[in-house]
Amino acid sequence: MTATEPSLIAEAVAILARGGLVAFPTETVYGLGADARNPAAIQRLFAVKRRPTEHPLIVHIGSLSELSDVARHVPELARRLAARFWPGPLTLILPRGERVPLDVTGGQDTVAVRVPQHPLALALLARFGAGIAAPSANRFGAVSPTRAEHVRRDLGGDVDLVLDGGACEVGLESTIVDVSRGYAQLLRPGGVSVEAIEAELGEPLERDAEIVVRAPGQLASHYATRAELFVVSPAELESRAAPHLARGARLGVLAPAGTAIPEVHARLFVAPDPAGYARALYESLRALDDQGVEVILVVAPSKQGLGLAVADRLSRSAAPRGETSSG
Ligand code: TXA
Ligand code: MG
Repeated sequence: MTATEPSLIAEAVAILARGGLVAFPTETVYGLGADARNPAAIQRLFAVKRRPTEHPLIVHIGSLSELSDVARHVPELARRLAARFWPGPLTLILPRGERVPLDVTGGQDTVAVRVPQHPLALALLARFGAGIAAPSANRFGAVSPTRAEHVRRDLGGDVDLVLDGGACEVGLESTIVDVSRGYAQLLRPGGVSVEAIEAELGEPLERDAEIVVRAPGQLASHYATRAELFVVSPAELESRAAPHLARGARLGVLAPAGTAIPEVHARLFVAPDPAGYARALYESLRALDDQGVEVILVVAPSKQGLGLAVADRLSRSAAPRGETSSG
């Protein structure tokens, strides 16, 4: 927190109020915020992100008490999860309140909501006093930003103000749970582990093969690096590296500290525990891209805890690139 901050928050609120875009830090990744009640602002947000308009946005609110402003009704299940995990990296899908324009929800009658856990985000939400719709502050399909300079580099002059809150603590996006149908269903693994949610519920989370359809925007290719990316086991590292090295390709490797890595153009080690790995994931992928590698081989952490979200993002980074992934 710096001395200039109150005036910065006031400036951010003024920008949002006149339909502008403000990037702000959350504990997960930086968000690109717009007034969730203002369809024109939301349309500009989609344009800047170059995101298809049927891909719905998350509405960020300042506290649990504001939930009834954005949700038509709040099932008991939702109240329980919100009370346990907010502020924090859990997004709940609820029946859409009538004050949330369909532009925000991609035409759906449900709305995604969360209370982020970051002092700057909470200060902004408290001063604004209404929901802020915010996707991750990157162009559609690219790796999400975990530092203010990532946002400035990706979006440049297209964003009216970037609030700098340093590096994001969690490092990847929130967990999304749909509670709009009377039971809890996992739509995206993220910053709250499935284990923690199941411990609170006292039963397993529903997960099904329809996830890709139900959470639009969860396209196969997403979180894409410029380099081609492959997830490999530590044991295959050497044999998977060999053909790329033989043809003279610039090769990068990302792996948990302690992994034996062959001689390659760029190697990056991250903490082996899933939460530490998650925190460093996007920044490490950016760093490898910045070193101009053509191929990245990644050794993933275990799928326990935040490792499930890491595996999910890596499998999307590794998916064959469609036309939408290049932005
Ligand atoms: O951690 C996060 O969640 C970050 C920070 C900024 O809060 N935000 C974020 O937003 O990751 P975005 O737009 O990159 O991802 C939002 C996801 C999309 O996959 C979208 O499909 C899903 O939320 N979503 C939003 N509304 C939904 C709805 N009504 N039903 C199903 N999925 C929804
Ligand atoms: Mg995103």
